[in-house]
Amino acid sequence: MKNIQLKSFAEYKKAYRESVETPEAFWDKIAGEFQWQKKWDKTLEWDFSKPDIKWFLGGKLNITENCLDRHLETLGNKTAIIWEPNDPDEESRYISYRQLFVKVSRFANVLKNNGIKKGDRVCIYMPMIPELAIAMLACARIGAVHSIVFAGFSSTAIANRINDSKCKMLITANQVYRGSKPVNLKEICDEALKDTPSIETVIVYRRTVEPTPMQEGRDKFWFDELQKAGKDCPAEVMDAEDLLFILYTSGSTGKPKGMVHTTAGYLIGTAYTFSNVFQYNAESPNQSFNGRDVYWCTADIGWITGHSYIIYGPLAAGATTVMFEGIPSYPDHGRFWEIVEKLKVTHFYTAPTAIRSLAKHPLKYVEKHDLSSLKVLGTVGEPINEEAWHWYNDNIGKGNSPIVDTWWQTETGAIMISPIAGITPTRPTFATLPLPGVQPALMDENGNEITNLHEKAEGRLAIKFPWPSMARTIYGDHQRYKDVYFSAYKNMYFTGDGAYRDATGNYRITGRVDDVVIVSGHNLGTAPIENAINEHPKVAESAVVGFPHDIKGNALYAYVILYDDIEQTPELKEEIRAEVAKIIGPIAKPDKIQFVTSLPKTRSGKIMRRILRKIASRDTADLGDTSTLLNPEIIEQIIEGNQKA
Ligand code: PRX
Repeated sequence: MKNIQLKSFAEYKKAYRESVETPEAFWDKIAGEFQWQKKWDKTLEWDFSKPDIKWFLGGKLNITENCLDRHLETLGNKTAIIWEPNDPDEESRYISYRQLFVKVSRFANVLKNNGIKKGDRVCIYMPMIPELAIAMLACARIGAVHSIVFAGFSSTAIANRINDSKCKMLITANQVYRGSKPVNLKEICDEALKDTPSIETVIVYRRTVEPTPMQEGRDKFWFDELQKAGKDCPAEVMDAEDLLFILYTSGSTGKPKGMVHTTAGYLIGTAYTFSNVFQYNAESPNQSFNGRDVYWCTADIGWITGHSYIIYGPLAAGATTVMFEGIPSYPDHGRFWEIVEKLKVTHFYTAPTAIRSLAKHPLKYVEKHDLSSLKVLGTVGEPINEEAWHWYNDNIGKGNSPIVDTWWQTETGAIMISPIAGITPTRPTFATLPLPGVQPALMDENGNEITNLHEKAEGRLAIKFPWPSMARTIYGDHQRYKDVYFSAYKNMYFTGDGAYRDATGNYRITGRVDDVVIVSGHNLGTAPIENAINEHPKVAESAVVGFPHDIKGNALYAYVILYDDIEQTPELKEEIRAEVAKIIGPIAKPDKIQFVTSLPKTRSGKIMRRILRKIASRDTADLGDTSTLLNPEIIEQIIEGNQKA
């Protein structure tokens, strides 16, 4: 990937200019660095009004040839994945590119032996173990579409996702430990599988020795299946625009959206941004670990960050990527730094919420460890506040590791606005400048683009030109894709985020402007949480909003109306939380619940969330215009209740 790496700010500016003036020629050059079975005929076709986006038309390739086969000759014996277990006393695993290639090929044959063909959807619900990486790459090898569901989601959430894309197979593990807590993944799956008619086979990886309930005919153990599988599996010929994976993300209304990513554009976007933003260089003579840079992204592969920057981007670039099974607080709050020291991590990429939660603990947890291997730090997932930025910079980077604050989304597939490590001047809390190929537009309240780049401005963030790794549709619901992303502004992709731009063109992302709340870096729609709360038989109606939280960034606040004569008790609040955990997952449990008798509504019946947000944030000095409310008297009551809550 050396040929696509920018080495100076002048090179960045030149590449950026080219990418805007001659985007096709710009991306052609980059795409030429990858392995194709057949070269593309046309670089780009697009029409945001439909929306219809195609990149590298007519090209044929397989992403696993780019992530594995291509490296065998030069990097075969180099480590592709270092796996760090939850329990520090268990042994780490080091998997070379050649070993990974063999494991992926063999498991791809397991998929085939069980009737999986190109285009079939396979749901993966697994902990952070190498077999998760192997399963996803094996799907890609044979052209099956993976749909990974974060292994913290509930059985209802799994079932909804399986049914939405009619997955034929589910791959899971029997059990996993997170910290000292066991999670019985197979049991959660069994609950989900009561209502998933499309699933024919379940493959179960035995992570622990606990007995595992298996359903005859349907459930098969990973190792038993491997024994029956051959070791060679040629890569399926994929069209550039063939589906690679589906990944669900919360929407501001209704059910989760299955974002669809396709093969070539996603590969090129993730590899290009990985190589540039992090400035990863395989050869790192000062490192004792095989003489290579060691890159660690702490995200879970169940989220887009893990897809793009633990697996596909780093492997396409021939990097050594770390996968960590555990949590930052086990066995103590120094675990991250212990791993950095042990593996001599050079590149460390995490979320602001993790930084804030670790910063709360005494510095001795950091100071115990030698962090001198670190060269680049990254953050992702939510705005980073100034205090957390400085803590990270001073205590982890010791003031000499550039911080890349990377803004992007599940929908964008790859990083969009971010410094290039060591090259772009950084500024605390700013994601800084768009990467080459990304054309942001800041929109004012009248829907017009604010074009003056030399004056400070604040508005909503849109993107006005396609980029290769963008999602192509919402699985099974193209109309929704159009409505959510391409209807706010003509011929532009709308991000759902607000942004501030300074007089030098640097962006700071200010947060969501729709009904999505980012809690500990997880994207949560308020509507599905309200639906879950309303499932409780004693609840008549509810409204959920976000409010600022020191560690999580935002937390959830639920206003709940009970049916008449129902007693308002703390136990009922717990039951409501449990209902949300059951239907969505523990991450969606509201921090605060306030019982109310009514909600502020407009005459057309719309809940005025703006007011509820202000009350939840205890920022009620100026509630703005309330004249359109049908029931203004309720506001005082809610404020009073909030102060008691
Ligand atoms: O609001 C932005 C926030 O996370 C949203 C996307 O969430 P998700 O699709 O789950 O992907 C997260 C990981 C890419 C965005 O709309 N966000 C992401 N990165 C940043 C951010 N907000 C501020 N600064 C960031 N660096």
